Amino acid sequence: MTKFRYLTAGESHGQGLTVIVEGMPAGLEITEQYIENQMSRRQKGYGSGGRMKIEQDRANIRSGVRHGRSLGSPIAMWIQNRDFANWTDAMSIADVGDGVDKKVYTKVVPGHADFPGALKYAQHDLRNVLERASARETAARVAAGSIARRLLEEIGIVIHSRVVATGDQDGAKIDPENVDWSFVEESEVRASDSDADSRFKAAIDKSKKERTTIGGTFEVVAFGSPVGLGSHVHWDRKLDGRIAQAMMSINAVKGVEIGNGFANTRKPGREVQDVIEYDPNDLRRFRQISNHAGGIEGGMSNGNPIVVHVAIKPIATMTKPLPSVDINTGQLVDAQYNRSDICQVARACPVGESMLALVLVDGLLEKFGGDSLNEIKRNYTNYVESHQAFGNPE
Ligand SMILES: Cc1cc2nc3c(=O)[nH]c(=O)nc-3n(C[C@H](O)[C@H](O)[C@H](O)COP(=O)(O)O)c2cc1C
Repeated sequence: MTKFRYLTAGESHGQGLTVIVEGMPAGLEITEQYIENQMSRRQKGYGSGGRMKIEQDRANIRSGVRHGRSLGSPIAMWIQNRDFANWTDAMSIADVGDGVDKKVYTKVVPGHADFPGALKYAQHDLRNVLERASARETAARVAAGSIARRLLEEIGIVIHSRVVATGDQDGAKIDPENVDWSFVEESEVRASDSDADSRFKAAIDKSKKERTTIGGTFEVVAFGSPVGLGSHVHWDRKLDGRIAQAMMSINAVKGVEIGNGFANTRKPGREVQDVIEYDPNDLRRFRQISNHAGGIEGGMSNGNPIVVHVAIKPIATMTKPLPSVDINTGQLVDAQYNRSDICQVARACPVGESMLALVLVDGLLEKFGGDSLNEIKRNYTNYVESHQAFGNPE
């Protein structure tokens, strides 16, 4: 049985989102404020649309926490959609009959879930597909990811993210260990230097003017991971595979790279491996002199920062719509326009952090087990101390 799992439910303009996180240990300090702080990071971003001005996301914890600490039972959360007030008829659970505006749409948006979803689920109103395909669902992932992040913090694992490219504009090449993360948090485009900050904004402004959209690449980094999360022994236990699946599941993500995955393919083998040295001061007793592998070898974390790059495509919905078809008549039409972002790359960063946190917690609970936080910490400490048996001449 899976040790740790989570489920989300909810439509973009429905009443709200439900999240259930199951398998967290007892004794973890959790507050709604902590989750809200993380969720507000998903709402900021230069080039985001009007929806985020309406919503002020807050996850209301409904079960699994008592007097500020987790009980080990499922943690249920509820995130209200404020916008539902404008959609009560269109998103009504009960049939509202004829004569009301159900906000039906039939003009396919190329690049969205509309076309395959309509045929697969036999839907003639594309809203029945869009409502769940929408990235509104990622608010629920950030709520779940915030709880995961809390557990990681207890073990000393910290996750950051930044935008490394917006459209054809690259940020300066800065090693993740030298990034000023407080600068990134202040930047509306999550750039790590001021030059990139202004170039990313200019690229977004240009897209807006041209009535198109713009994508990019972001980096998610986990510092402080122990050696040995994931495993080499079976395909579905490999940590890199699990991270790639989690990141690829984020709406509009089309590429995932661990470490210098793509750049390494252009270099000779001698230049891309991470050479190991004995280091009695390192908890692992060894250290690597570089981190081209992005902290994962053989499907296992090696104790270096876990570095993931995520490519996200430009948003499909545009104020100047593409030519398209009506799903019911086949007639040529302009694609539907629903209120939309120009650039979602910065907003996707906290979602990527959450997905990494959820995968790492899964790996952590698999490795260190335990039903209470203290039990997990004891198992973790014993394991780290066991590294002393390696690289020891006596
Ligand atoms: C944070 C975030 C915000 C997004 N906002 C929008 C949006 O405003 N409009 C839109 O058409 N797509 C948006 N998307 C992307 C779509 O949800 C996505 O392209 C669509 O569901 C189709 O799936 P696919 O691109 O993964 O194939 C957003 C994605 C993310 C991660």
